[in-house]
Amino acid sequence: MARKIVVTSGKGGAGKTTVTANLGIFLAKTGARVVLVDVDFGLNNLDVVMGVENKIVYDVADILDGRCRVKQALVQDNGHKNLFVLPSGSLTASSPVSGQQLKLITESLSELFDYVILDCPAGLDCGFHRAVACADEAVVVTTPNLPSLRDADKAVTILKSYRLNKISLVVNRARGDLIMSDKMLFPKDIESLLKIPLIGVLPEEDAVFLSSGYTLPKSCDSYKAYKILANNLHKNSGKIYDVTAKYSGFFGSIRRSIKRSV
Ligand SMILES: Nc1ncnc2c1ncn2[C@@H]1O[C@H](COP(=O)(O)OP(=O)(O)OP(=O)(O)O)[C@@H](O)[C@H]1O
Ligand SMILES: [Mg+2]
Repeated sequence: MARKIVVTSGKGGAGKTTVTANLGIFLAKTGARVVLVDVDFGLNNLDVVMGVENKIVYDVADILDGRCRVKQALVQDNGHKNLFVLPSGSLTASSPVSGQQLKLITESLSELFDYVILDCPAGLDCGFHRAVACADEAVVVTTPNLPSLRDADKAVTILKSYRLNKISLVVNRARGDLIMSDKMLFPKDIESLLKIPLIGVLPEEDAVFLSSGYTLPKSCDSYKAYKILANNLHKNSGKIYDVTAKYSGFFGSIRRSIKRSV
């Protein structure tokens, strides 16, 4: 049986889809069989971020309408043969998907994979509940700014009312230079505020923004950060990427002032 993990945030744009995609890629690199399910019906874009949009033949709507089986709708990743995407496709308000239907689909995927990762929509309404009801773990993604933290806190409160095995925290778009200049919260402080265990910190980096549809280049910091995050999720390594390392000490303070002046 797979670990079924919903990636959520409350706030829109916190990085749920990016984290879902890259967690999938880096878990697949460990050899695990992974499927990413786009449960952001209507504003679906996981297929685009994964670069598989041109390979889609069927989607969730086709499964629900009986035009195909779950296996037939899976789209294989371009770089990893053990990584698949289930696109959400053309569902509209006139053909809504129920929580029960989605649960049946994720249960059947659970028998084929080690990880079923659900890319949750923004907000805390029915789309959020439908996604969370299919999962047994949640990863809450937040950025280190107040609006995002407030929404993450609300999400955590609701998540605690579900019988989830684990609710973990990922801090996205962290800036080591701002943290070291006391202009951004330390990820550990965010962990204390939200009262859920921190499993990963991801730097803000242009490479992430530019990588949509492609895999991250090995040379970028985010590649290392995602690798560490996936290891922590997979093997409970307890390791977390340190975004401040580059900006500590003598050379770090020079890097900080260079970054300030650009
Ligand atoms: N660490 C990062 N550094 C730079 N850009 C990032 C980072 N994480 C995400 N982004 C960018 O932020 C934007 C929003 O990310 P993403 O689509 O993953 O958020 P989301 O939470 O899924 O949004 P939505 O709520 O609309 O579904 C994207 O353009 C993405 O490339
Ligand atoms: Mg998204």
